[in-house]
Formats: sequence, structure tokens, C-alpha cells
Amino acid sequence: MNHKLQPTRWALALTAAFAVQFSAQAAPDAAEQRAAQLVSQMTIDEKIDLVFGHFGSEWQKKPPVEGARPQSAGYLKGIQRLGVTPQWQTDAGIGVASQPGARPRERSSLPSGIATAATWNPALAFQGGAMIGNEARLSGFNVMLAGGVNLAREPRNGRNFEYGGEDPLLAGTMVGEQIRGIQSEHVVSTMKHYGFNDQETGRNILNVKIGEQAGRMSDLLAFQIALEHGQPGSVMCSYNRVNGDFACENDWLLNKVLKGDWGWKGYVMSDWGATHSTSPAAINGLDQQSGYPFDKSNYFEGALREAVLDGHVPMARLDDMARRVLWALGSTGALDHPVNDEPNKIDYAAHARVSQADAEEGIVLLKNDKGLLPLGSNVALKRIAIIGGHADKGVLSGGGSAQVYPIGGMAVPNEGPKAWPGPTVFLPNSPMKALAARTRAKISYDEGKDLASAARVAAGADVVLVFATQWTSEGKDVPDLSLPNKQDALIAAVAKANPNTVVVLETGGPVTMPWLDQVAGVVEAWFPGTGGGDAIARVLSGEVDASGRLPLTFPVSESQLPRPKLDGVGLKPDTRFDVDYDIEGAAVGYKWFEAKGQKPLFAFGHGLSYTRFGYANLKAEPADGSIRVSFSVSNQGARAGKAVPEVFVSKVGGGWEAPKRLGGWDKLALNPGETRSSTVNIDPRTLAVFDPSSHSWKIAAGDYQVTLATAADAPVASVTVRLPAREFAAGAR
Ligand code: BGC
Repeated sequence: MNHKLQPTRWALALTAAFAVQFSAQAAPDAAEQRAAQLVSQMTIDEKIDLVFGHFGSEWQKKPPVEGARPQSAGYLKGIQRLGVTPQWQTDAGIGVASQPGARPRERSSLPSGIATAATWNPALAFQGGAMIGNEARLSGFNVMLAGGVNLAREPRNGRNFEYGGEDPLLAGTMVGEQIRGIQSEHVVSTMKHYGFNDQETGRNILNVKIGEQAGRMSDLLAFQIALEHGQPGSVMCSYNRVNGDFACENDWLLNKVLKGDWGWKGYVMSDWGATHSTSPAAINGLDQQSGYPFDKSNYFEGALREAVLDGHVPMARLDDMARRVLWALGSTGALDHPVNDEPNKIDYAAHARVSQADAEEGIVLLKNDKGLLPLGSNVALKRIAIIGGHADKGVLSGGGSAQVYPIGGMAVPNEGPKAWPGPTVFLPNSPMKALAARTRAKISYDEGKDLASAARVAAGADVVLVFATQWTSEGKDVPDLSLPNKQDALIAAVAKANPNTVVVLETGGPVTMPWLDQVAGVVEAWFPGTGGGDAIARVLSGEVDASGRLPLTFPVSESQLPRPKLDGVGLKPDTRFDVDYDIEGAAVGYKWFEAKGQKPLFAFGHGLSYTRFGYANLKAEPADGSIRVSFSVSNQGARAGKAVPEVFVSKVGGGWEAPKRLGGWDKLALNPGETRSSTVNIDPRTLAVFDPSSHSWKIAAGDYQVTLATAADAPVASVTVRLPAREFAAGAR
């Protein structure tokens, strides 16, 4: 972010070229021309070097390939004589991660992706992206495997913490802005895991069944929107099969949708171990095999060379693969801005501020019945009891390949699994210490292991804060939505001892709350990153407003889900199984709940503030083939706060997969008494239905209801607009 690189004239020309939306038929841009020129000078072996990736770390006691950065995800050779940089690849979405090993690199960590989505603030997503992109380049990496945009179709998915929630517009916008931020540092970003990799259980073997219409209007729409915002250099295809074919050799996903309809010029890399063949993979759209020896064979090395030489894969296709890699490196500026491993140049203090700002806006105040929060505003505070969650030491983070190791070491050593995806990492920023610095009240701490002791500590306090954690990770889904390790019983016991109890959750996704009626408040802090303890303390104490809103529905119980039981659980390894996403189709999350008339525990978009907002002057009119909505928001309370007006759209008379869809939103900072107006342009795809037979989006002529709301279940005002029929191409908007 802060480095002083000057863009080259070539890079400036490119920026201008990108002001114009690319399309399948567009004339070659400068990066394409340069890529083609480079490829024309290459030998077949040099082309292979660009598309055959090695794992960057020790593997089964074998040292990593020469040239790889220590404990990294991946490495591909460069071509020195042509000035083509090696590709140094690192995970991922919350910062520069480390593969397991003796000396993980310690770097700044953003809050989890789901927390960033909960800010509903695209500018924060961009800044966070730029921050981690900067740390990547100063750690010697020019490809970040960051940009996870799988929809939270399955709330038990262990990786939901890495993604952007359940709505395609929100997830696509937020993750797309993060990608744009990363690439602003001349580091290639990787949109992943394409596609429908929405659960971890059986991820290598499962087959997703989904119809084209439902797929285009849900998961694929999230990817499409992220791609428009971020224009990632690279896309990672996922482990699973989709409608019978592996995602990494899936002609429909890769050639037809991604490269065809969306006109994307970058390269598809496989997930680590997700390549299954040479010719079918190459022909069906895979451009780069990643992380060998994770796959059974080095398909894109000697075998690809041979397939090209004997004509099974045309040389033109290998050229295309190499060109796409070079386009990504060129269009992002990675070719012209070499990276170096010089972490002493990282401005960690500035980066901690970026991360903390993100965490603060992502914290969601779910319940505040007695007005206990902000602390001290309603109840005189002499004694605060803090219970559980290692709140005296730090904040939780999510596990797996995205794990960033904290500066200052692990706050709680020896937690969780010894082997990958462990260990369970707590970042050393204690919410308790951060709160102690902000209050005169006496704080007592109990670790929450013994119910009687926790209840005793709670009973003597004016307010009790219970920190409840749920560690989630790659490679594993949660068995159900309950808090683990008997924390439900702990919360119930504490609330019984003292009704002035507020639960602070650090979870990877939604949890059920059998104790909800017994507690006065609930705060969802997710995995809040490097400055997480301070962020939590600032929200609890009211130094900042609680302005996060849920990016996914919190169900009452698993019985409300499209799949009450998670598919694949209990099957013998290697048993193939189908996951039927046609059950809910495009009705993911709140859309499913509304289509079924079910009341969730907390709805998508929900989140309280410490102030009160008033909404007025809602207007909507047809504009640019869609709808333009305007309204005003006033802060009617006594504190500064941030409103998140949400605009939902419905087709009058029905006919969609669900009664309504999120069409747009705004986030406004308002001082007491201040009023501001806002204009929201509805994404036209949220008014349309994808028609697979005409291969286009269709907005039907008729009346559309526009609803201004503070959550999916909390409408404020509605107006109706009449629209003419409109049809537009699959890749347009
Ligand atoms: C994950 C990817 C990650 C890759 C490299 C895989 O296990 O699914 O998200 O980028 O490993 O570490």
C-alpha cells in the first residue's frame, strides 16, 4: 500500500483500457498483445514452465522445489531470458498465510471474509485487499490465492468464514472489491473455488447437481459480480464435480461460462490436488496445474508436452494457456513490478489499523434488549465479569490453508489439532485487556471450564460478558450449528446466575442459541483479525457504533435448512455421492427461508445500532435498463452511527425462486441530527431471470416492488415501479 512504485506508461495505458468493460469480442488489449508477443518467442518447454505448478513447501519429507519461498503454497519457474518473473503463490484471503512447518511467517491478519462482508462497506474490502496485497509483495509473492466467493449455501460449511455470505450481490461486490484491492499492489488475485464448492465434507469426491438457471442466478452470479469488480488475473477451479464433470475439467464452467459468456482473459489454476487428467483438463479449460505433487500425476508437465507434440492438445491451446498466465501477470503489473522478500519494509502499525477498522464495522449487534450495550450507558458499572473464549489472551482465527500466523506469536499455545488444518490459532490481541483500558470497572475473569465457578464469578458482577468460540477450518464442516465444547450449558448457567449477560460470539458462521431468551445481549464478532480485541472493546464500550449487518441467515435449527442433514457424513472415504442443489436452486439463505415461510433466529441483513435511524422520501424510477432508488436517512438518536439501508426487489405477482432479492444497499455515517440522501442503482440481474434456452437474462415487463429495509425481515417502506421487458446477454448487465 505505502510503497513508492511508479506505474509504468504501459501499466497506465492498461488502467485506461480497463475503464472500458471487457467483452468476449473486444479487440486485444495491451496486456494481451504483450502476452501474445512473449508467447511467440517461447519454446514448448518454456510454455510448460508457465502452466505446471509445484507445491511450495516440504511434502512427505521431500524438500520443496528450488526457487520456492519457504512454507508457501506454490511456485512456477520464470523465463529469465524473456523477463518473465517466476510465480510465487501464497494463500489467501485474510493475509499472507504459511503452510505448516517450523518457522511460519508472522503477518497481519484481516478479519475473516465473512466479517468483511458483514461490514457491507466495499471501501473497507478494497483497503483490506490492498493491505494484504502489499504484505504479499513485501513477502516475495506475486500471486495471492485470495478471493473466496463461494455462497454460504450450507451454513455448516467449515470454510464459510473465508467467504462473503449467502447473497450473490453482497458476496460478489465485497469479494470483488477485495480482489481489486489486492491487484492494486500489482499482485495477481485468484477468485475461488469455482464452483459450487459449498461444503468441505467429501469435497474431492462429491458431485453437485444444479440446473443451469439456478446456478446462473446464485453461485455463478456471485462469481460473475466479483469478476466484474475485481477482474482477477486468475480463477481457481474447485475439487468437486459439477453435473458429472470435475470442476477443473468442466467445459461448461470453464470454457462456456467463464471464458465465453463472461469474456474473461485470465488463467484457470486448479486447486491443490484438483487436476485429474492431461488432455481433457487442457481442452476443457484448465490453464495451469497447481501444487504438484498434490495430484496423482504431473499431468501438465511431460504428459502435456507429449499431448501437444502428438496433436491430442493443439499447440494453439498451449499458447492460449501461456498467454492467459502472461495476461494476468501483465494486466496486474506483476511483470513490471518485481516482488522481493523484505518484510522489514511492511508498515505493520498502519496495517493493524486497516484490519481493526474492518473488524469494527463487521461486528454485528444481534440483540440488546435491556440496553446493556454500550457498556455503562444503562447500568452503573463497577464490576464486569468476563468468562471464557480465552478473552484474557486473544481472539480466534479460522484454520486451514488461509491461516495467517500472528505477529507476536500464538496467544494460546497447543490448541486444536496438531496436524493440518490445525493448530487453532488465537491472535494476541485480548478483548479483556482492551476493555480494561477503557473502563474504571473492576474486571474479573473466569476461563469458563467449570460451570459453578463461572456462575459464581458472574453472580457478583453488574454485567457479564461471555465469550463463546467456534473454531472452523478448511477440510471439515461443523457437525451441526451448536456451539462446541458445552458452551451452551456454560452460557445458560451464567445467565441463570446473572441476567445481565451479554454473549460475544467468535464464530466462523451462524450458530444456534438455545439460551437466547435468557441473555440480555448477543454480539457476533466473527474471527476479527489482528486488531480484533480492540475492535470488540471499542464496539462494546460504544467508542464506535455497532454497524455490522448479517451477511447470512442464522437459522433456529438445522431442520429449517434445505438439507437438514449434511450430505456425505458417515460415508466411507472415496464413496461418490451427489449433493442436490436443485432442492433450493437459486433460493439460497434468506430466499429459502422466505420461500418456505420460515422464521429464522436472525435474518439476513439484521444488525442493531446504538442510535436510531429514520427513513423518508423513498422513490424509485426506471433507469438504464434497471431501477434507480433514492431515499433519505436521518440519525434520530444521540450518538453518531452508521446506517445500512438495504434495498430488496420483488416481482409483483411472483414467479421468482423467492419473494424477494437484495438489489442494492448503502452504508452511511451520520452524526446525531444529520440527514443524508442516498441513491442506489439496482443490479439488473436481481430483477431478471436467466433463461438457458435463449442464453440470456430476461426482465419481464410488469410491476416491481422496491422495499427499503433494515433486514430481510424488517421492511421500512415500499414503492412500486413499472418496467418494460428487457433482455440482455449472459455476460452483460
Ligand atoms: C485450498 C485452496 C488453497 C490451496 C493452496 C487448498 O487446500 O482449497 O484454497 O489456496 O490449498 O494452499
